[in-house]
Amino acid sequence: MTSPRFKKVVCAYSGGLDTSVMIPWLKENYGCEIITYTGDLGQGEDLSGVKAKALRTGASDAVVDDLQDRFVQEFIWPAVKASALYEGQYPLHTALGRPLLARRLVEVARDFGADAIAHGCTGKGNDQVRFEVTSNSLAPDLGVVAPLRTWELLTREMEVDYAVERGIEIPITREKPYSIDKNLWGCAIECGEMEDLWNEPPADAWQMTKDPSDAPRGSVEITLSFEKGVPVAIDGVALSGVKLIQQLNELAGHYGVGRIDMVENRVVGLKSREVYEAPAATLIHMGHIELERICLDRATFNYKQKVAQDFANIIYNGTWYGPLRDCLQSFVERANIHLTGEVRIRVSAGLARITGRRSPFSLYDEGLATYSDGDTFKREHAEGFMELYGLPYKTVAAVRRASGDDPLND
Ligand code: ARG
Repeated sequence: MTSPRFKKVVCAYSGGLDTSVMIPWLKENYGCEIITYTGDLGQGEDLSGVKAKALRTGASDAVVDDLQDRFVQEFIWPAVKASALYEGQYPLHTALGRPLLARRLVEVARDFGADAIAHGCTGKGNDQVRFEVTSNSLAPDLGVVAPLRTWELLTREMEVDYAVERGIEIPITREKPYSIDKNLWGCAIECGEMEDLWNEPPADAWQMTKDPSDAPRGSVEITLSFEKGVPVAIDGVALSGVKLIQQLNELAGHYGVGRIDMVENRVVGLKSREVYEAPAATLIHMGHIELERICLDRATFNYKQKVAQDFANIIYNGTWYGPLRDCLQSFVERANIHLTGEVRIRVSAGLARITGRRSPFSLYDEGLATYSDGDTFKREHAEGFMELYGLPYKTVAAVRRASGDDPLND
């Protein structure tokens, strides 16, 4: 038996096999008392029985929270405002949920006077980083235990035997070949046949979206309204963030929109293949970026794209509670103050397209842009502009030629 380093541990608990086995394992190996914590991020599982189940499994107390609204307001919307897509594609649903869950674990640890938290992440993934760096950032004195990195239960069968020997309930699900992580903002699926990069993801891997080939024919068009960078209504009907995302997941999922098949660079150094489903996230990011295109000046629009990449990396890398996220978020908030307006999006099988955009803060000036009557652009000024804009290059070329280096000979 490992020395009992901790007396009371708050354990992240989903009711699945790993976290169920973690309860007796931690009690036996650390001799500690266990409190479980379960957060609802919109994973679509019935959590009504989870507290009783945790207590039956050996926890001395169990906390269950609905975190969906907080998840949307404090994590998803800032990510939308920042246009945060990891490596240009992944809308970061798992990565955004972890700091919130970890924060709640820490808060519950404080409430119960616990001296550590525990999570069920493996040693190969990004999620251990997100849990542990969040805990370190918010409560550096708190211990963190990651049983899956050290325990002797190397296979699923060993975990099942361990549970059966102790008479604890384990989920009676058929073993799935995939590892799936789902919440309100999307779904990630990996393992099985997809580990070979050449294989197409099997049809049964997808959880939230219809195969585009089975999607309805034709298309639907929706109008998405934004206020200061946050989506607030569909077709003029104001909705809470959670409802709005649910409705768009439903709609876009039905048309097979939001599937992403991606090979990504993990924090722990390896590349992995993951498929994502992000129906609502796809439409919302698309609409938001469209408003940026019309409401932001060129310099801010370009600069914001660099910030988007850094912001996405911060989320992915698990440093949400580090100082740089705070600094960048101030910029992002400021850059969103005029992103109020509407976009029209046409959704058809496997495809979403912007069909219209408008905003009271639009910087698009039809008079300046038109090639028809009513042109207000002073084309005669273009001549002087060319003169000055091209001046440095003219100067370089003249000097090079004078030294016998004709640019035409390059
Ligand atoms: N690769 C994603 C991330 O690191 C998702 C991780 C969870 N994936 C899973 N299939 N369980 O954020």
